[in-house]
Amino acid sequence: MRRKLGVNIDHVATIRQARRGTAPDPVTAAVIAELNGADGITVHLREDRRHIQDRDVEVLSRVVQTRINLEMAATEEMVGIAVRFLPFSSTLVPEKREEITTEGGLDVLGQRDPLHGAVSRLQEAGILVSLFIDPDLAQVRAARHAGADAVEIHTGAYCSAFQAGNYQRELGKIRTAAAHGRNIGLRVFAGHGLDLRNIVPLLSLPEIEEFNIGHSIVARAVLVGLGQAVREMADLIHGL
Ligand code: PXP
Repeated sequence: MRRKLGVNIDHVATIRQARRGTAPDPVTAAVIAELNGADGITVHLREDRRHIQDRDVEVLSRVVQTRINLEMAATEEMVGIAVRFLPFSSTLVPEKREEITTEGGLDVLGQRDPLHGAVSRLQEAGILVSLFIDPDLAQVRAARHAGADAVEIHTGAYCSAFQAGNYQRELGKIRTAAAHGRNIGLRVFAGHGLDLRNIVPLLSLPEIEEFNIGHSIVARAVLVGLGQAVREMADLIHGL
């Protein structure tokens, strides 16, 4: 199976929002990602609109040629936006205003009923629904019961363990959760904190169909692109 890469462009918008201006444009970033092999574009429309804005979702929904995965909280407002712009998929995530990023998976077990409503409204609109969960068997089962099409396994704890040099236990949890998810008929995706190094062991897990990766790609883009950006300005100023 050819595994898919969804590129999360939230942090292109984070840089733009630092000046509340127009550059860099996440829509341009989406096109560049697609031209270079991305299988899809992921954006998280947060309730506080700290990076991606409603207009980005609107323009992306007309420009993206691959497919859009809209990450969102399971609120009335967000379900309404998804139903309006009809992304290919919606990933339901927990959201706290004070968090720096999505810090853990959804507690599907604890809120199966409210989630069930959001899942079915999105599915009725033809949107594939994925639930972002920790690699925990009870949460995988609860996701199935809530009617989800897919789970996205939160790889944050695994990435921290990888950084600390001792990741086998966390990798084992992801392996078990992914296999169970697949066995009970869920599609399995993964994401959060992945980079060029820590993704390598995960590539040996055949159940994971798709990876959603944002921060490490945008962070690397800043560094690999910085030399050219400085040269352009230096050449102009030095009169070459
Ligand atoms: N998948 C989900 C559900 C997320 O919430 C995030 C972070 O927005 C990602 C993937 C991407 O994580 P990262 O930016 O660390 O690659």
